[in-house]
Amino acid sequence: MSKNVLILPGDGIGPEIVAQAERVLAAVNEKFNLGIETTKGLIGGSAIDATGGPFPDETMVKAKAADAILLGAVGGPKWDSLDMAIRPEKGLLAIRSQLNLFANLRPAILYPQLADASSLKPELVSGLDLLIVRELTGGIYFGQPRGIRVNDAGEREGFNTYIYSETEIRRIAHQAFQAAQKRGKKLCSVDKANVLEATVLWREIMTEVGKEYPEVELSHMYVDNAAMQLVRAPKQFDVMVTGNMFGDILSDCAAMLTGSIGMLPSASLDQNGKGMYEPIHGSAPDITGKGIANPLATILSVSMMLRYSLNSAEAADCIEKAVGKVLDQGLRTADIVSDGCQQISTQAMGDAVLAAL
Ligand code: IPM
Ligand code: MG
Repeated sequence: MSKNVLILPGDGIGPEIVAQAERVLAAVNEKFNLGIETTKGLIGGSAIDATGGPFPDETMVKAKAADAILLGAVGGPKWDSLDMAIRPEKGLLAIRSQLNLFANLRPAILYPQLADASSLKPELVSGLDLLIVRELTGGIYFGQPRGIRVNDAGEREGFNTYIYSETEIRRIAHQAFQAAQKRGKKLCSVDKANVLEATVLWREIMTEVGKEYPEVELSHMYVDNAAMQLVRAPKQFDVMVTGNMFGDILSDCAAMLTGSIGMLPSASLDQNGKGMYEPIHGSAPDITGKGIANPLATILSVSMMLRYSLNSAEAADCIEKAVGKVLDQGLRTADIVSDGCQQISTQAMGDAVLAAL
């Protein structure tokens, strides 16, 4: 039976990196006879330009019909002055929310070849392998009420709502515990329970769900401390679980431990394992069109897609090995280049991965 993958290149460097990931997907599709068919769609700023909105109905219909989705990145200065409600980022938030992709898995793995590319000392990061499980469809990103209003004193004020229901916490807790079960069996739940009630409940439910997973060692950490520990001693973590906003921030931080934000893939899954896959970096308008963006996070997102949604672990392994081989060869895009390595373009990185497959 054929499987359908929707490809949403998006904005900025999105189309450049997705083009390389598509070539890799096509190559493993043929090599392993996976029967994958792809279609394209619009999201973000490019969708605004073409249709007036960041998440057109047509894209939603295609997304619902697809077995998996590969996304590049959205946003850019061109659309920054638009009203919040129709900004490119709204398209990304809408697809996450409407497809119920509540479980965002962001693995931060240091390829040994890149130990020197990290801004931390090699001994602090060598062997790093941690997974951030970020709740993706709730919390302050979606909480109501929200807005900018004029208060009684006649002054403008901005407000958002940090809210989590028990159901939302419980389902992300199960995902995180199950992920920890398959890894090092350590889960650190990150909250701000010394200040925010929403996270007092978060901590309570995490503890309760933890009783169903006695083999997983659960700990709790305040988010400020977690940020510090990530740059002080990141290898203490196996799996971290946290809410939408803290997860956004901590995953950028974790990305840099691995040398470059250009290396980190992600999976956003619904209850049934259907998923959207995207690099965790943004659209990088500053380097758009220069041919220097790192396509590896997107290529590794394809590998996550094959593993989690398309049941093709063999093809996923093959891509990951190919990426390792290319790094062994000393080939690097600008963001991860170091002494003794050869700097190559986005396209050449795609070529190298294809050759290594
Ligand atoms: C991410 C991004 C998005 C987020 C933006 C582009 C809306 O930073 O996926 O981490 O905040 O979730
Ligand atoms: Mg982010």
